[in-house]
Amino acid sequence: MASYDIGVIAGDGIGPEVAAEGLKVLAAVADIDGFDYKLVDYPYSGAYYLKTKELVPPSVIDEWRTLDAVLLGAIGHPDVETGLVERSVILGLRFGLDLYINLRPIKLYAEHLCPLKGKRVEDIEFVVVRENTEGLYSQIGGHLKKGTADEVALVNGVYTWKGCERACRYAFELAEGRRALRADGRGQVTLVDKANAMRPHDIWTRAFAGVAADFPALTTDHAYVDACCMWMIKNPEWFDVIVTTNLFGDIITDLGAMLQGGMGIAASGNIHPGRTSMFEPIHGSAPKYAGKNVACPLGAIGAAGMMLDFLGEKGAAARIDDATGTLLRSGAVPSADARSGIATSDMGDMFVQHIRGSV
Ligand code: IPM
Ligand code: MG
Repeated sequence: MASYDIGVIAGDGIGPEVAAEGLKVLAAVADIDGFDYKLVDYPYSGAYYLKTKELVPPSVIDEWRTLDAVLLGAIGHPDVETGLVERSVILGLRFGLDLYINLRPIKLYAEHLCPLKGKRVEDIEFVVVRENTEGLYSQIGGHLKKGTADEVALVNGVYTWKGCERACRYAFELAEGRRALRADGRGQVTLVDKANAMRPHDIWTRAFAGVAADFPALTTDHAYVDACCMWMIKNPEWFDVIVTTNLFGDIITDLGAMLQGGMGIAASGNIHPGRTSMFEPIHGSAPKYAGKNVACPLGAIGAAGMMLDFLGEKGAAARIDDATGTLLRSGAVPSADARSGIATSDMGDMFVQHIRGSV
């Protein structure tokens, strides 16, 4: 029987509540699909930092490399210096484990969740491949003469050939796999950048073209990021796979989450193919909902599903995805936010019940 070592960072705010529901669903599918797993809990969070002054030590990053995957709830605490713990835990994982892909599916499960007029479920089904270790997140920069009238702040965008090439290759391989499943045999990759205003972004243009040559069955497209935001609202059905920079991917996937029905539903994978990878809902810690048992756990449940898909447990992953679709389309789960009227803990139970009943 396959067995997986899974690190769990429940984190802050609603993180522990939604992560618990992801784990509940994980337990149910493990039972049905016949795999085993061991959970290792890690306390790193804003709350833990306030108590101990401890961030993630390098030895723990080394330990994470020995796991099969890490599941994260949410990180961020209003009483901690802006971004300190997010950089330590989330960026610590992304950079420390070289998780160079941030995979963010934008999938509309039920038409009534979409804020756009006249869009059907088949119109919103694309994937954003966000480069996850460089760009404007490189942390190369800082302040000069901080706090004076002569202050200078530098935030540098770093784009390496290797980084652009491997993100593009992942996107094209993903699109090729999706294409192979379609009756019409069509597939497309869209590069999203800002190479008109930021000329060095043409490193992306060239890396993309080079990889595209290896995938003649796929069509290619390009959009500047501002136009991409416009097309995502006007014609989301045009997109299949998008590949983009770290910051642009961060921004357009929040927009994408709204197309799916809200931040509560969007899940993501921070991936290095073949190595320990990390899975998380894309929402934050939402302190105002913490401890109220109202947060929407769909993102965390979806993240558990993406983790299983990554681990090769395709049947279990499909089971979770099907349950999400069925519960949302039937109205059993009426919305993907804190106002669904269904308690966080009850929603996990509904998933388990539905999954068990469908076997
Ligand atoms: C995300 C988040 C993070 C990011 C923050 C918390 C650092 O917004 O995963 O999208 O900017 O990548
Ligand atoms: Mg974000």
